Amino acid sequence: MTRTNTRPPEVPLMRGRRDFLKGAAVAVATGVVAGSMTANAQQPGKPDAPRSDTNPKRPLLSAENDVRKLGSLKVSSIGLGCMSMTSGTYNPPRSRKEMIPVIRGAVERGVALFDTAEIYGPFTDEELVGEALAPVRDEVVIATKFGFQIEKGHWDYNRRNSKPEQIRRAVEGSLKRLKTDRIDLLYQHRVDPNVPIEDVAGAVKELIKAGKVKHFGLSEASAETIRKAHAVQPVSALQSEYSLIERVPENGILDACEKLGIGFVAYCPLGRAFLADNFNEWSRFAEEDRRTSTAQFKPEALVANLRILDVVRTWANRKDVTPAQFALAWLLAEKPWIVPIPGTTKLHHLKENLGAAHVKITADELKEFRKALSGITVQGARAPETVERDR
Ligand SMILES: NC(=O)c1ccc[n+]([C@@H]2O[C@H](COP(=O)([O-])OP(=O)(O)OC[C@H]3O[C@@H](n4cnc5c(N)ncnc54)[C@H](OP(=O)(O)O)[C@@H]3O)[C@@H](O)[C@H]2O)c1
Repeated sequence: MTRTNTRPPEVPLMRGRRDFLKGAAVAVATGVVAGSMTANAQQPGKPDAPRSDTNPKRPLLSAENDVRKLGSLKVSSIGLGCMSMTSGTYNPPRSRKEMIPVIRGAVERGVALFDTAEIYGPFTDEELVGEALAPVRDEVVIATKFGFQIEKGHWDYNRRNSKPEQIRRAVEGSLKRLKTDRIDLLYQHRVDPNVPIEDVAGAVKELIKAGKVKHFGLSEASAETIRKAHAVQPVSALQSEYSLIERVPENGILDACEKLGIGFVAYCPLGRAFLADNFNEWSRFAEEDRRTSTAQFKPEALVANLRILDVVRTWANRKDVTPAQFALAWLLAEKPWIVPIPGTTKLHHLKENLGAAHVKITADELKEFRKALSGITVQGARAPETVERDR
């Protein structure tokens, strides 16, 4: 679906995934582990067990160390975004036969947070996730979302529906498709301007009382909405876009989460693959690819944003990891309650992404990195004031 022109000969090949195994070997040899800034920090002088992926039974994420809290909900420090498996967002929908091994491969490697939504597909993503995780249901956290009117298999961002009766209907459907009796984390996908957030929180509170839902989340909500919802039913997580090419949550949203003890789930943490060094200034996308309509991927924005990628590449080289790993490690290092959920349809990308949990970024390095970024404006990112209203 994506058309990426090949690099002309004069453009050097950057560190790529083929270097990952080498990087992982170095990380093991030097005992490089999760950052001291993070909740999964190791004890000094006690490096974690080697994290080679040659033994499929040994998870890449450790159940003891690579865990984070979203409010009171314990999850793996990196989750798996399942949207692109069926939604057609970046690639044609993949078959269950292809995707179930990716989801189960994630479980084997220690991932314990899986993200879906009723609109992905619509519905088919929840079915896939439900089928893949049924054998390990009690070992994982399943997150899904409601909030849109879906009619005859179609939905769009302008047709929101968070009426309490619709939330209850959506939950019954999600439970069936997910083959489960409870949803661990239920998000309102987008704020509905026609339904007071207190009513939404009240409806979810009832579902929690009934045992059908365990935790409440919001997505792309403003600080004011988060506060109002939290007063009715504690919010465990806010899921919003956050990456090195979309830093708008730094404009007050992260502060609000910190103050209220709400975890932050970073979606599109790889900037829709831009930060995985997948594209260059000649990259163009098929009409049906979401990136065609995303401002950061317009030709002039791509050129401008490569400056960010250059800094990421430099730091990835310095750490002997891939740009994707560095981009995710940066999120993990920023706050111990941030959990990125990179999306992938490929097991080798998943393995690469999980390697981010073992990249150490110190507080001084974070400062230095931020300084390197400070002179570069991301083109196509949202305006800073957008955090003051619901998206
Ligand atoms: N709350 C919301 O409104 C919202 C909105 C968007 C997304 N989400 C959630 O967030 C999750 C993640 O976001 P996203 O998938 O849109 O964006 P993303 O994680 O930033 O990027 C996904 C893209 O990166 C590629 N990729 C992943 N790892 C890679 C690697 N190591 N090397 C090269 N390419 C790599 C994937 O392609 P391959 O398949 O080829 O690996 C895919 O095209 C979604 O799955 C969804 O669950 C939520």
